[in-house]
Amino acid sequence: SVTPTLDTYRPAIHYAARNTWLNDPNGLVFHEGVYHLYYQNNPYGNVHSNMSWGHATSADLVSWEEQPVAIPCDETEDIFSGSVVVDTGNTSGFGADGKAPLVAIYTSAYKPGSPHQGTQAQSVAWSTDGGYAWTKYAGNPVLTRNSPEFRDPKVFRYNGPAGSYWVMVAVEAHDFTVLLYRSEDLKNWEYLSTFGPANGTGGIWECPDLFELPLNGDASARIWILTVNMNPGGPNGGSAGQYFVGEFDGATFRSETSLTEGMQDPERVPDYQWLDWGRDYYAAVSFSNVPNGRRLMIGWMNNWQYANHIPTSPWRSPMSLVRDISLVSVNGQPRLIQQPAPEVKATSESGPLQRLSINGQAAVEGGTAVQAIDIIFTPGSAEEFGLVVRGSADGTAGTRIGIRPRSGELIVDRTRSGDTGFHEAFPSTSLAPIAARQDGSYALQIFVDHCSVEIFANDGLATVTELIFPDRAQTSLTLYSTGGTADAALQLIDLGKEEA
Ligand code: FRU
Repeated sequence: SVTPTLDTYRPAIHYAARNTWLNDPNGLVFHEGVYHLYYQNNPYGNVHSNMSWGHATSADLVSWEEQPVAIPCDETEDIFSGSVVVDTGNTSGFGADGKAPLVAIYTSAYKPGSPHQGTQAQSVAWSTDGGYAWTKYAGNPVLTRNSPEFRDPKVFRYNGPAGSYWVMVAVEAHDFTVLLYRSEDLKNWEYLSTFGPANGTGGIWECPDLFELPLNGDASARIWILTVNMNPGGPNGGSAGQYFVGEFDGATFRSETSLTEGMQDPERVPDYQWLDWGRDYYAAVSFSNVPNGRRLMIGWMNNWQYANHIPTSPWRSPMSLVRDISLVSVNGQPRLIQQPAPEVKATSESGPLQRLSINGQAAVEGGTAVQAIDIIFTPGSAEEFGLVVRGSADGTAGTRIGIRPRSGELIVDRTRSGDTGFHEAFPSTSLAPIAARQDGSYALQIFVDHCSVEIFANDGLATVTELIFPDRAQTSLTLYSTGGTADAALQLIDLGKEEA
């Protein structure tokens, strides 16, 4: 076994592979008490290459144990992104001894010299030992369009008015489209429909997901969400995720706007929303088979603009925290709410509630390299107020998280966050929209780790996820206001995990 490598930036509350590269989360599934996180992995290095499915498992969504590579690349194919389902009815016939198999549906990215060279097609593999050992199906690929950019199948069980069958969403990345297929056995796929091209075509489309959520917790009002990752074209540059809200009738997904206004009108109001406004939340997909209707998502915390260059070694790229997703109406529009899974705080200890008046700078005791910060700001006369996390003792370095109430902006400035010089696209100031809550306040829940900040604003209505590379000694925490005053109610939360 390999000894975990400790370096300056190895996260304490996020998953990263021990000694290798990772990108997209793949095949997220809950099965017999275990959460499985497969992921795009280079088993032999720390840049994007030799794509295989790495594997980690967790019982609590917080502590992940790295497992042997699940599906390795070979001389004919790289194993690109995809999903895993629990084939409860053994519809695939891959099950043995009456046990339901796990079936992985992944993209075969065929290599030069192989029979299908130059194409990306969908293939399957199965596991009868609970997701550790995988066998590729001899009839692969199971779905091809002879296209070089057809990938990222996400499969789920549709049970609705139209029947009960498997549905796959996958992208034609360069056409900005999501293609839908259906199957009885996960091996034979029949075309259903195409969504797009639609709004948010600033970059190629990748890693789609389609799921249903109750609106405002009302199980009788269910709405479908289509998430599509896009690279580049994100709100603050590079890779990002968007989502469409709409209806799925078992064959076709129609977004809200297309339902009312028609997809053809180029002047229509954009009908997509950003999943996260930060620079580093990409390829997010949801878990399958989670009990009690929970919809859990993980994103890759990196951005293709500089992904291969972030200054970590020998591992590269962490995953986001696990997020609980729900849907609420905001001004009559259904909007996703994202919250850190409560498990993340299960063993935490909250410090006392501190009430502070800010007029300029106010140092706060208790800043650490790894913690959660719950803070509610009430605006006074200040133009901008906020906090600087992971600051240096001399005050010259840190990550600024601010709110400008008049322009309704949340700002995340990492230009002085630590090491920013490894790539010209890295230093940045991101903006996200934020409105005062009904009582006039602004609430931020911030998770700080050795190489990231994840911000859940206004109870999860907007999130901003960003990598940072501060020195381990950068632990100071400061509140600030510019051009006037603001009040803050603050609580520091020890997550009980300082080291990786
Ligand atoms: C998204 C992506 C996917 C592809 C995988 C390859 O980050 O480009 O579209 O399947 O990464 O590693």
